[in-house]
Amino acid sequence: MKGLTNEQKQRVEDLLQKMTLEEKIGQMNQESPSIVGGFDVPFEELIEMMTDGRISKEEFGQIMSSAKQDYHEDDIRKGKVGSLMVQDPEVVNELQKIAMEESRLGIPLIFGLDVIHGFRSVYPIAIAEAGSFDTDLFERTAGMAAKESRAAGISWHFAPMLDVARDARWGRVSEGPGEDPYLMSEFARAKIRGLQNDHSSTENYVAACLKHYVGYGACESGRDYNTVSMAMHLFYNNYLQPFAAAVDEGAMTVMAAFNDLNGVPCTVNEFLLRKTLKESLGFPGFVVSDANAIRECVVHGIAKDDMDAGIQAAIAGMDMDMGTEIYVKNLKEAVESGKVPMEVIDEAARRILSVKMWLGLFDHPYVTEEAMKRYEVLPQEHRDLAREAGEKSIVVLKNEGNILPIKKDAKVSLVGTLAKSRTEIIGAWALSWRESDCVSILDGMKEEFPNVRYFECGGPEGDINMNEILAAGDYGDVIVAVLGELDSMSGEASSRADITLPGRQRELLEMLMHTSKPVVLVLMNGRPLALEWENNYVPAIVEAWHLGIQMGPAVARVLSGTVNPEGRLASSFPALTGQCPVYYNHPNTGRPASKSKFTSRYLDAPLDSLYPFGYGMSYTSYEYSDLKVEECDGNEEPALSVSVKVTNTGDRSGRETVQFYMQDVVGTLVRPVKELKGFRKVSLEPGEAKTVTFELPKRDMGFYDNDGNYRLEDGLFRLYAGGSSRECLMEEIELTFR
Ligand code: NOJ
Repeated sequence: MKGLTNEQKQRVEDLLQKMTLEEKIGQMNQESPSIVGGFDVPFEELIEMMTDGRISKEEFGQIMSSAKQDYHEDDIRKGKVGSLMVQDPEVVNELQKIAMEESRLGIPLIFGLDVIHGFRSVYPIAIAEAGSFDTDLFERTAGMAAKESRAAGISWHFAPMLDVARDARWGRVSEGPGEDPYLMSEFARAKIRGLQNDHSSTENYVAACLKHYVGYGACESGRDYNTVSMAMHLFYNNYLQPFAAAVDEGAMTVMAAFNDLNGVPCTVNEFLLRKTLKESLGFPGFVVSDANAIRECVVHGIAKDDMDAGIQAAIAGMDMDMGTEIYVKNLKEAVESGKVPMEVIDEAARRILSVKMWLGLFDHPYVTEEAMKRYEVLPQEHRDLAREAGEKSIVVLKNEGNILPIKKDAKVSLVGTLAKSRTEIIGAWALSWRESDCVSILDGMKEEFPNVRYFECGGPEGDINMNEILAAGDYGDVIVAVLGELDSMSGEASSRADITLPGRQRELLEMLMHTSKPVVLVLMNGRPLALEWENNYVPAIVEAWHLGIQMGPAVARVLSGTVNPEGRLASSFPALTGQCPVYYNHPNTGRPASKSKFTSRYLDAPLDSLYPFGYGMSYTSYEYSDLKVEECDGNEEPALSVSVKVTNTGDRSGRETVQFYMQDVVGTLVRPVKELKGFRKVSLEPGEAKTVTFELPKRDMGFYDNDGNYRLEDGLFRLYAGGSSRECLMEEIELTFR
């Protein structure tokens, strides 16, 4: 494994020599604390009771706090556990001490957790942060999350999530960086650098876990955990690409997806795990299953029982079992009966031990007292980064009549239950935040607008209060309505079949519009929404997503113009739910959508997405000109040089996201109408112009066919540059690749 010294590699080999079969299999077992006592129903049932509303979140919390946790201390002592999911540093130390001092070989545990968009400092959800198109930011937020979590004993993040997601009905679009494989690959590379590369101390880096390998985002009809079927050229060109980039960047671990891909669950898919990931891509780290996924292979109907599922998973190349204990209970017998070769176990144990060695866990297994206290008060630098990330992720979708920015001394009626919440701003899959660090939009607005007044009026759930709506209309020069989704409405197991504003929020908006005051709609949500009505009637719309702990200041500073917005959409927004999946880089049909009847379109929906990938407004304006495309000698290889002039034609300084796209016009397979190939962030003062040059190596202009062969095909190419996937200048060029 890259990154290990020869001496460390030798230590791993020496250890393997000493280990029994059971101890090796023990390394392949990940446990979560089991809940015992405190209530009369099984834990899973309890979760369901909370999900279906039989008990509230608060009741769930009370029951949990009175329950006892079983941390599997005895199994740790016997060397039967390689990893655990806990997040209390004192518990981490206690369990680690058992592993180090009471197990036969003193092998440290690796503690993993879902740290998807920040640990104690929660940043914007990934779909939002990706829209900043800012690789430096991606790296810095990952680096900070690594430091914060390691100070709590967590050295393994189940992130980044790299599921290309084209269907906004799927709740997990919130957790990943959107619909485009190139942006996702750049996001992935930066996250890996941020999480893994600062080795100035073992306290500064963690192991990343790429997930969910692979194709999970293409679940049929956007329904979570659903089946996935896809042509192999799509698999190679779109879904695999971000994983390949992240492996190339040095990612240490991978989590397999729950779904089946073309009939074989990823958990037991030898083609995916062993052949593609480990052999073709040369992935040196270990693969972990998703929670309970090995057992779910029985439910899938691909294995007849636990033993069968465990054997299939191990042979396929699944190194660690998350949560089922199928490996610890069955693999010894499977090896002894010849059903699983010993090399499979050796390989898995070697990979897991190597990652632990790389993390420095053998020499620094514990969290120090100092580290535990380090972030007792969250440092200002951490809050500032969360605010910066929030500000850069906000996307202005509409700004009719330049309602925005709002003057700081204006009377602002702030509306909506979400505006007041300090918890809904966090977004799905964040586990380690504290409410006391969170700043609501209301609190952020108070700092920026001294004349703001709050009117609850309504929200994603519950009723509308007419009197408050009238009062909001009476008071403000402008109404800022914060509407959207609760954070439980996106994320895992949160698919929606109708992605308009939930509850009575559209009615609420309509009533606010009737007050005759200008309305700014600020959206707080975890997925692209279908906003046809809102786009038709509301003059200003700001997509603010779930931005994390500093959501309040970030939103307020963009609304006031203290910050000039620069965020873009990493995912296309449909006008209507029925358009899903809708994405910019779709293949051409023989009858592309147009106004004529016999074309690829709906009778009752617009031809295209409402807001396309890469789109977002600024308080200044940019003009593109002088697109030039020519062949050149790039970085020691033939390349295309694509340059474009960008001018700030407005009266504010701003940061523009210059985007480069390509189309391979004629191919042996139908190619996308556009593919993102590069982007640059450019700061421009009013009136200033810059020429941005982008070099596209010619070897990156090909595609994979259905057999996984990479093809560079001579012919006509179109190169585009512009401020979104829709608004671009275009030049054509004929190319040969030999
Ligand atoms: C299930 C989710 O699919 C995955 O993203 C997560 O990392 C694991 N559970 C562990 O919590």
